[in-house]
Amino acid sequence: MGRDVIIACDFSSKEEVLNFLDKFQGKKPFVKIGMELYYAEGPSIVKEIKARGHKIFLDLKLHDIPNTVKKSMAVLSRLDVDICNLHAGGTKRMMEAALEGLTRPDGTRPLLIAVTQLTSTDQESMENDLLIREPIDKVVMHYAKNAADAGLDGVVCSPLEAQKVHETCGKEFLTITPGVRFADGDIGDQKRVMTPAEANKIGSDYIVVGRPITAAADPVAAYERCLNEFVG
Ligand code: C5P
Repeated sequence: MGRDVIIACDFSSKEEVLNFLDKFQGKKPFVKIGMELYYAEGPSIVKEIKARGHKIFLDLKLHDIPNTVKKSMAVLSRLDVDICNLHAGGTKRMMEAALEGLTRPDGTRPLLIAVTQLTSTDQESMENDLLIREPIDKVVMHYAKNAADAGLDGVVCSPLEAQKVHETCGKEFLTITPGVRFADGDIGDQKRVMTPAEANKIGSDYIVVGRPITAAADPVAAYERCLNEFVG
């Protein structure tokens, strides 16, 4: 899989997400299904969107004991999505177990990506709530390295961290980056943002874009613009 734009389909019902995807007619954008939609509609929404021909990033961020994550990943592997994820904070052993569970009997599997520290976690909350006293950048890189050592395919990170992740974990290690906005667009609640063109320049492999596309007056035009700016 090469560089691509993944649309964050942050909707809470089947009706909303299918209405949105219907606008794309012949086009089949890569979509991200998060907890909100998955918990509302269950695995059937994943199967339905897959059957329509979309690639799917199933963003459920698993984090539990290794055995539970392994078994849950085995169940998710049957949904035939393209990307799954988990929290690197669950340790290397959890990530290795996840990879085992995700690998199908024929040896194939979806890509497995780790979340390092959530971007909602800042230095202060990491120190006070989690008692982690290292600088957050160092923690993020350490978690990324753990994910690479465990055999995962990449991390979700801020576009500002993508270059450093590639330097630390290798060029092939994927960076999936949210926090993307058009130069003339609304930032909303994202704090550190980049345009699709900037994300391309610093080496993001995939960008995850939600509201700049889902809330646009013309979502298909916004998606095309994003794709043109990012992939060229
Ligand atoms: O609407 P917006 O473009 O901000 O959506 C970005 C998507 O990426 C959302 O689904 C959000 O949950 C997700 N995300 C993020 N920051 C992270 C990880 C995931 O914005 N660090």
